[in-house]
Amino acid sequence: MFETWEELEEAIKGCNKCKLYKTRQNIVFGVGNRNADTMFIGEGPGADEDRQGEPFVGRAGKLMNMAFQAVGLKREEVYIANIVKCRPPSNRNPEEDEATVCINYLRNQVMLVKPKIIVLLGSVALKNILGKEYGITTARGKWIEKKEIKYMPTWHPAALLRDEVKKIDFIKDLKLVLKENV
Ligand code: URA
Repeated sequence: MFETWEELEEAIKGCNKCKLYKTRQNIVFGVGNRNADTMFIGEGPGADEDRQGEPFVGRAGKLMNMAFQAVGLKREEVYIANIVKCRPPSNRNPEEDEATVCINYLRNQVMLVKPKIIVLLGSVALKNILGKEYGITTARGKWIEKKEIKYMPTWHPAALLRDEVKKIDFIKDLKLVLKENV
């Protein structure tokens, strides 16, 4: 574990622990308030994120920003990161070996931020953080508390692009987070 953000970011920039380093343009480290009470965890960078080096800047990210706005949450107030820091080709899910090595960097980010609440965006984040036994359809919208952190699983923002009902759920879940974080 690295004690400073600078050391951690340098380590990820030089990382070649899985095959994803070969095809990345940029690492996507994470963005936002490093002292946030609430952290959002996605899956992995898409094409836009790989190009810009920032999480959730593509279509799904824009929709997430709109949902944030709708409930009065500011993107810069929270910390946003992903399970994997390099883009999986063709937007496939991260493979087990990729997630297993990369999640240590995310754990280091969690250690540095010390959030009270972690919002898990979609199935990949849920299963990698809380365990394979969880399914997003049943887990979403309900608090799960572990080791003094409250987890709120919800839909991945990309799922909202395809399903209006999920947008309503997502907003509901964000409101639960806001209500908890007083
Ligand atoms: N999807 C993710 O899971 N993360 C991003 O950063 C962008 C899209």
